[in-house]
Order: sequence, then structure tokens, then C-alpha cells
Amino acid sequence: MTPHEIVKPWLNAGVSPVKSEEKFAPSNIALCKYWGKRDKLLNLPINPSLSVSLAHLGTHTCLTPIDHDEDEVWLNGLCLSEDSAFSKRVSLFLDLFRQSKPTHFKVETRNSIPTAAGLASSASGFAALALAVNDSFQLHLDAQQLSVLARLGSGSACRSLFDGFVEWQMGERADGLDSYATPLSETWSGLCIGLVKVDAREKATDSRSGMQRTLETAHLYQSWPIQAAMDIQAIKDAISAHDFEGLGAKAEHNAMSMHATMMASWPPLVYWQPESLMAMQTVWKLRAQGLPVYFTMDAGPNLKLLFERASADDVLAHFPDIEVIHPFGLI
Ligand code: DP6
Repeated sequence: MTPHEIVKPWLNAGVSPVKSEEKFAPSNIALCKYWGKRDKLLNLPINPSLSVSLAHLGTHTCLTPIDHDEDEVWLNGLCLSEDSAFSKRVSLFLDLFRQSKPTHFKVETRNSIPTAAGLASSASGFAALALAVNDSFQLHLDAQQLSVLARLGSGSACRSLFDGFVEWQMGERADGLDSYATPLSETWSGLCIGLVKVDAREKATDSRSGMQRTLETAHLYQSWPIQAAMDIQAIKDAISAHDFEGLGAKAEHNAMSMHATMMASWPPLVYWQPESLMAMQTVWKLRAQGLPVYFTMDAGPNLKLLFERASADDVLAHFPDIEVIHPFGLI
């Protein structure tokens, strides 16, 4: 199966694309990570994952049909070269919708998060792009189809269609139509995420190639799907019970286990920088002193701290520069 074959039944023959509304999708942080694909073309995962969306932090995207033979991709007010990795991925995604008379687009995309800094901008980017395509081509897709569509751009994008806690069920079908995300009904006012920005520059190895290298070369990877399946259940139980320590411990353990599989790859994949490890040690020290604070990390050097509103002052005393996000608002 190819992405073209998945999208084909959704296309509206004879409808010409129009300028879309500006669409927004939030960034998301995985508490149980997606790491490894069973199908590289369709971004079908080997394990289910669960994330929390970052409210107002994310991507705004608008599509305008233009009379050119190439797309023009603008990121944060700058026109990207056609050779940039991001423009190529965006154009490949738009190719899925171009039929006999191909239309090209000006794609204006604006991130309120540092691009490619391990803060999942590709997730919100492809989710916002899927929403803009749906509007421009008048596809009238439902939430499940939109999630599948966003997944074709970037796996974790399927979770960025929703606010709050979001679960991506891995699915079993070869066409991936049962591999999409749904929001959980639970909320958690007072839950805080603190962004520790160690390095906002683009990473040398993106998640896509990092997870492929891990899958192909890391012997430790074999235990990952089993652990992820157990972690996601424990995280869902902790969310239902509002058990913060259970949630934080499982999320941190899941992230460290993912990083262990990366380090067991060849050549080794180490996203940490000295400051990342220093921040981890501060978290462990604070926990030993009785402060309930945990962290998670994606394929990058930045930490995302997890804590509750009641601990915010103490956390900020040790991490004064963090940006604090309240995914469910304040109590
Ligand atoms: C570590 O969704 O960026 O952030 O499907 O190849 O586009 P592709 O990968 P991507 O991988 C995200 C990996 C992660 C964990 C997660 O968000 O679940």
C-alpha cells in the first residue's frame, strides 16, 4: 500500500483547491513514545503511544494555490529553498492530492515553538497541513481520517489533531486505516510541562532516521514494544486515578528506555548534551528531596519537566528559565 492509494478514495474529482483558512494544530509531547515503524511509507508504528498536547504552542498553516510549477514553502516568514528537508517533505505530502491538473501552493507556516528542537514541530506542522489540505480541497474528512492523513506526513502528527491526552492506537491492518489517534476524556487541571531548552538548533539526526537506525541495529530494541505496551497501560491507569507520581515515573522510565535503545544503535545515537544530563541530575536530586518532578525527552537534547501546580514555585527556583505550559489550564 502507498500513501497515494490511501488518499485516492478521499479525493473529490473536479473540485479545484482554494485558499484555505489558517489552521492551527498543537504540538504534543509523548508520555509513552512512538519509536519504530512496521511500515516506513505509511508511518505505521510498532507500538501504541500516548501524548499530551501543548495548548497554544503549535503550528499555524495556510495554503494558497499559486500559478507556479513548484510549491513555495514559507516558515516563520522566510521562504525556504526547494532543497530544504522541510519543503521537500511538505511538497511530497501535497503531491498526494495533485491530480491530472496539478496545483502548486504557497504554504505559509508559522511555529510558536522552536523548529526541530525536539519539541515535535513536525507533528504540529503536518497536523496543521492536513487540516489546511482538508479545507483547501474540501475533502470533508472526519477526525479519524484526518488523523490517518496527518500520520502519512509524520507519525506523531496523528496525535496533534487533538487537545489534552491523546492515544495513538497502533492498529493491525496493512493499509493503516485503523492506526489513528483519539483524545482521552480525562483532563488534569494543574498539570504543568516545563520546557528546558538545552539547544534549539536543528538536530544532526532527525527522529525518522534515528528510529530506523535503532530498529535495524540495536539489539535492545527487541524489548521496546513489550515495555511500551505495559507503559501505556500504566500511564492510562495513572491518568484515570490522577496519580501524578505514577504518571511521572512511567513517563520518565519510558523516555529513558527509548534513549537506551538509541544508544545501543550503531553508530550510537546520543541526543543528550552535557546540559541535558545536568538537568536530569537536578530532577533526580529534587525528587530525592521529596519534590514530585519528573521529565521526558524526545529525539533531542531538551527536557520536558512534568510537575503539578503545587510544585511550580519549587521547580522554578531550580529551573528559572523554563517555559511552563498548562495543557489543561490552571486550577
Ligand atoms: C521521539 O513522528 O517525528 O518524538 O513518523 O518519521 O515523521 P516520523 O517520526 P516522528 O517521530 C517522533 C518520535 C518521538 C516520540 C513521539 O513523539 O512519540
